[in-house]
Amino acid sequence: TAARVWGWERENIRCLAPLGHFGFECLPYQLVSKSMRQGFSFNILCVGETGIGKSTLINTLFNTNLKDNKSSHFYPNVRLTVQTYNLQESNVKLKLTVVNTVGYGDQINKEGSYQPIIDYIDAQFEAYLQEELKLKRSFRYHDTRIHVCLFFISPTGHSLNSLDLLTMKNIDRKVNIIPLIAKADTVSKNDLQKFKSKIMSELISNDIQIYQFPTDDETIAQTNSSMNGMLPFAVVGSTDEVKVGKRMVRGRHYPWGVLQVENENHCDFVKLRDMLLCTNMEDLKEQTHFHHYEYYRYSKLQKLGFTDVGPDNQSVSFQELYEAKRLEFYDQCQREKEELKKKFMQQVKDRETAFKDAEKEASTTSLMTLQNKFEHLKRIQQEEIMKLEEEKRQLEEEIIDFCKTKAACETLQTQACTNIKKD
Ligand code: GTP
Repeated sequence: TAARVWGWERENIRCLAPLGHFGFECLPYQLVSKSMRQGFSFNILCVGETGIGKSTLINTLFNTNLKDNKSSHFYPNVRLTVQTYNLQESNVKLKLTVVNTVGYGDQINKEGSYQPIIDYIDAQFEAYLQEELKLKRSFRYHDTRIHVCLFFISPTGHSLNSLDLLTMKNIDRKVNIIPLIAKADTVSKNDLQKFKSKIMSELISNDIQIYQFPTDDETIAQTNSSMNGMLPFAVVGSTDEVKVGKRMVRGRHYPWGVLQVENENHCDFVKLRDMLLCTNMEDLKEQTHFHHYEYYRYSKLQKLGFTDVGPDNQSVSFQELYEAKRLEFYDQCQREKEELKKKFMQQVKDRETAFKDAEKEASTTSLMTLQNKFEHLKRIQQEEIMKLEEEKRQLEEEIIDFCKTKAACETLQTQACTNIKKD
């Protein structure tokens, strides 16, 4: 190229291809070696019913045996488990985070079953945003935002269930969804094609956006666009080694034969692995950062009142905006303070009035009580007096009677004495 630019070719000057790399053409190598040193990270969210084959597929994809306990079908609500593993293939290190749904689709009332999934995705965006807004950011920050959601569809051969539709509808603007038909070995080849078409038409009619493998890079455009036409991938997972001829392959052994997980005629596992890990992992991460996270950040900052243009359509600097927000907040605080003050004064007044009223009432009540007591005593006293007067009257009558009787006796006595003398 350099020779062509300088026109040496025309002058018949012999050009030798350099044996090594010089100048800025080495840049990609610098990036590669730096990335290799730092290692990579990838976060996967697996959404699917209990026992649908989520862990088995992840183990098959990463050729590992990541520990995962079996879940029960009796959880009262959906929750998520997060596990992070440090894996290494050749000299490439990968920090893999697997988030699994637990109890998904098990409850009788499935209302809000998708909410914990949304909450988790948003919480990771929020954590990243908070880190971004920090004055002192950590360079070792572990980005936990979900890069891909493997959505496990039950192999009914029929259609998508309403919970799956609702969940996908609620998360499709937050995460890259790759739909998978789980345990695809349980559906016949003909049924599988019909099932795939049915699922895709249901997704389109419900306006659910799934991840599309990018076609802007011409080196992978053809493969990616043909793979887009094969979604949802019909996958089978297994970490068991089965003997086929003289080879040991990963597969599932059935009475009628062996299903080879890595045989493209048997299932779409290899297509998924190639698309997910070999070809589009970086794009999934970019989509997460530049598309889903960007939208979250935009909505969040807009809700907080941030804007790029002022009312006069002039661009607003961050400092101006911050100052305006600060003043607005200060005014609001002042207003609230005044209101609180007024409220407090009113309350104090109300209390005072109430207290005075209570005092008045109490004094009136005590006066009344005293008067009542006095009346009562007076009544008792009057009754006593009346009783005494009655007794006095009775006594006087008795005295009169006694006097009368005494006089009569004396008269009788005098008469008797007179009679005796006469005799
Ligand atoms: P929980 O985490 O408990 O919800 O389960 P899971 O969704 O992770 O399912 P897991 O991978 O534990 O698999 C459950 C059962 O399904 C196991 O017995 C697996 O052997 C079986 N299984 C997994 N993948 C497949 C598959 O592709 N086809 C068939 N036929 N069985 C599978």
